[in-house]
Amino acid sequence: MKFPKTDLPLREPALLVLAYRYLVKDENGEVVETPEEMFWRVARTVAEAESFFGEDPEPWAEKFYHLMASLDFLPNSPTLMNAGLPLGQLSACFVLPIEDSLASIFETLKNAALIHKSGGGTGFSFSRIRPKGDVVRSTQGVASGPVSFMRVFNAATEAIKQGGKRRGANMGILRIDHPDIEDFILVKRDFKELTNFNLSVALTDAFMEALRKDDYFSLINPRTQKEVRRVRARRLFDLLVESAWLTGDPGVIFIDTINRDNPTPLLSEIESTNPCSEQPLLPYESCNLGSINLSRFVKEGQVDYVRLKEVVHLAVRFLDNVIEVNRFPLPQIARITRLNRKIGLGVMGFADLLIRLEIPYTSREAVRLAEEIMAFIERESVAASMELGQKRGSFPAYAGSVWDKPETPHMRNATTTTIAPTGTLSLIAGTSSGIEPLFALIYRRRAFDGAEWTEVHDLFLEALAHYGLSSQDIVSEILEKGSLRKISGVPEKLKKLFVTALEIPPEQHLAVQAAFQRHTHNAVSKTINLPENATKEEVAHIYLKAYEMGLKGVTVYRYGSRPEQVLRLPKDK
Ligand code: CDP
Repeated sequence: MKFPKTDLPLREPALLVLAYRYLVKDENGEVVETPEEMFWRVARTVAEAESFFGEDPEPWAEKFYHLMASLDFLPNSPTLMNAGLPLGQLSACFVLPIEDSLASIFETLKNAALIHKSGGGTGFSFSRIRPKGDVVRSTQGVASGPVSFMRVFNAATEAIKQGGKRRGANMGILRIDHPDIEDFILVKRDFKELTNFNLSVALTDAFMEALRKDDYFSLINPRTQKEVRRVRARRLFDLLVESAWLTGDPGVIFIDTINRDNPTPLLSEIESTNPCSEQPLLPYESCNLGSINLSRFVKEGQVDYVRLKEVVHLAVRFLDNVIEVNRFPLPQIARITRLNRKIGLGVMGFADLLIRLEIPYTSREAVRLAEEIMAFIERESVAASMELGQKRGSFPAYAGSVWDKPETPHMRNATTTTIAPTGTLSLIAGTSSGIEPLFALIYRRRAFDGAEWTEVHDLFLEALAHYGLSSQDIVSEILEKGSLRKISGVPEKLKKLFVTALEIPPEQHLAVQAAFQRHTHNAVSKTINLPENATKEEVAHIYLKAYEMGLKGVTVYRYGSRPEQVLRLPKDK
């Protein structure tokens, strides 16, 4: 694959990923678009929505182009990939319902296939499916249970490679009170199982209460609503913690906490999130995300709030326009997405921002800044959505929603904020992903197509140069010793500033997640990275703490616990 030509400040990994998956190709697979042309294609398509409200699209296309080409903001991958092209599906996140019938299960399987083809990810709750061994009256048979149907979904996903661009991603949710919960908790201990799924157990307040009291807890057959058996909450919890400790799966979501924040409870209850769990959605709902690159908002050693405000307002308008021009894969999805008009504006490059401001990720100041920045983005995004609401009308499900109050007489979007992982977007923007700390200063990255490369963090190189240190010597010492901490002659300040994910205590990971969550309507994608020697007790503590802190979910990952790990330290390559 040749590097595409460009005058934009895109680095090699960005150019590679763009060439492989984003830029338009001809029938021979040759790239026929430059990154500039890609951003124009997206900007023009998104600006078309302006004409629906009596505005001239051209000046808006220009603004949207600069918003993206400057790498201040990027919309989620399907928008970059599909805008202006025949498919025209622009959202990353979908949730589909599954009822307890073969017709519903296979209808949703078909719909999921269509969504995957368009680059979207799908989340499902399997909690309504009757448990294994239950009766099937029409056939006089025995039910096979949610996990067996998840295998069918997994196999279907395996067969469809999202239009050749990305493999389908799924979230599978099961409530903790489902009778098959143990099978669900154990299934991914086998690495060959459900490889196209992230799993999350939906923990309820009732379960957390039973756990606190060390009480027994009822498992309920969803078909009959009758108790099937009682189990000690502690035993289920230990099993769950052990699986997460062993393999990182399943994660947990706190489903009652999520529903307390449901902006439109009259429409329906939230049962599931999207694949990376940052976006809770109603059945058939979709959401388009976008992320602001915080590392670009430093001016004279301070956060540039003046420019950040402008970018937030423009980004909200951009994301609202996406709903207008989006081609939804199903009429049900179009209907509910247009009723709520949820958008998810978030951030990437938080760790890089901290480094530029010389604030260690492990400090209290980092948590304070997280809180300040996200409160600002939330406030401004709501202001932007209110302005749009006044001009374009409130979202149709506004009446009876949480926004239906005198302070917010107009609101264009039922939610405005979500913190996505920005797995690929951060690579394109050349910054740290989402709100994660640096994973390492030097690492091997393995891409979708098996290509591998070594990266040295650019701000680290700059800092070494600033202190007159030889990057070659330090890099080879890090490669040998595995950490900057152990190297003599490096100033203490640099060691603190360039702290990496596995050196950060879990409490600090949680504190940063919680600071962002307090000012995010939807949820926050964050991995609590743990060193290989972390204990099960630590994982249990993290789960309890996450619930107390009001997080909507938590994902732990112990270094080295999965064979296909994406990020590796150079010493383990
Ligand atoms: O950086 P990018 O926009 O590609 O994606 P992300 O922020 O890492 O992930 C955002 C969402 O995109 C995920 O939660 C999924 O819903 C979806 N996604 C997907 O469907 N397939 C992937 N391979 C990655 C992400």
